Amino acid sequence: MKKTTVLDIARMKAEKRKVVMITAYDALFAKIFDEVGVDVILVGDSLGQVVLGLPNTLGVTMEDMLRHTGAVARGRRRAYLVADMPFLSFQTGPGDAIRNAGRLLQAGAEAVKLEGGRNVEATIRAIVSCDIPVMGHVGLTPQSVHRMGGYRVQGKTDAQRERLLDDARAVQEAGAFAVVLEGMPADLAAAITEALEIPTIGIGAGPRCDGQVLVMQDLLGLFDEFRPKFVKRFGELKGPVQDAVRAYADEVREGKFPGREHSF
Ligand code: KIV
Repeated sequence: MKKTTVLDIARMKAEKRKVVMITAYDALFAKIFDEVGVDVILVGDSLGQVVLGLPNTLGVTMEDMLRHTGAVARGRRRAYLVADMPFLSFQTGPGDAIRNAGRLLQAGAEAVKLEGGRNVEATIRAIVSCDIPVMGHVGLTPQSVHRMGGYRVQGKTDAQRERLLDDARAVQEAGAFAVVLEGMPADLAAAITEALEIPTIGIGAGPRCDGQVLVMQDLLGLFDEFRPKFVKRFGELKGPVQDAVRAYADEVREGKFPGREHSF
């Protein structure tokens, strides 16, 4: 299969083909997802919760993102690879933002994603001016958890709807090639998708986005500390994984494993 590029992702909207995006954090899963033919792999800063055991994404560092982006880059061959810019890697000014985005590209990413709308317009412009493709992320932005007072659906009032539409426009005007719409009413996401020329990729934003993204542990049924309404579990892998480990533990305890066939 041919390598997916930023041009392919941009073209998919005009061709009315849905963009399929999934998160990955290591080489093994990146290879598995790549073989299935997903369009985009995102090294999300959701890494904080689903891999590092942190309470939110705010503790994820550039070093964490570089390590995991490198691992995913080594596992995937065809999918387009986007890496999240973690908290404080871009908010402190365009110089830091460019440098950190560049470091993620050096680790193997082909684009970076950063959260925010009109407030990060100049930052996106600065990164894009250095030939680094940027994916935007508006609506429920997890790095703003304390401002939002929790992980709440955004864009419920008329004023908030106007602001989110303006945020998405700002991201497009700044030169982003695509934008994630997270945690907003389906009709607002549909209106933003219609208003923009760049593809929208939804998560908790209804079916009328140009693509969808899910966190791999959610869709595989591995993560069950909380189950947001927007997550569909396409597999229930926690049970089979625990069954296998239980069987292993039983056989070790009963002296059945390793048998002669596993011994030298
Ligand atoms: O960090 C992440 O995994 C994300 C997706 C949920 C869009 O930003």
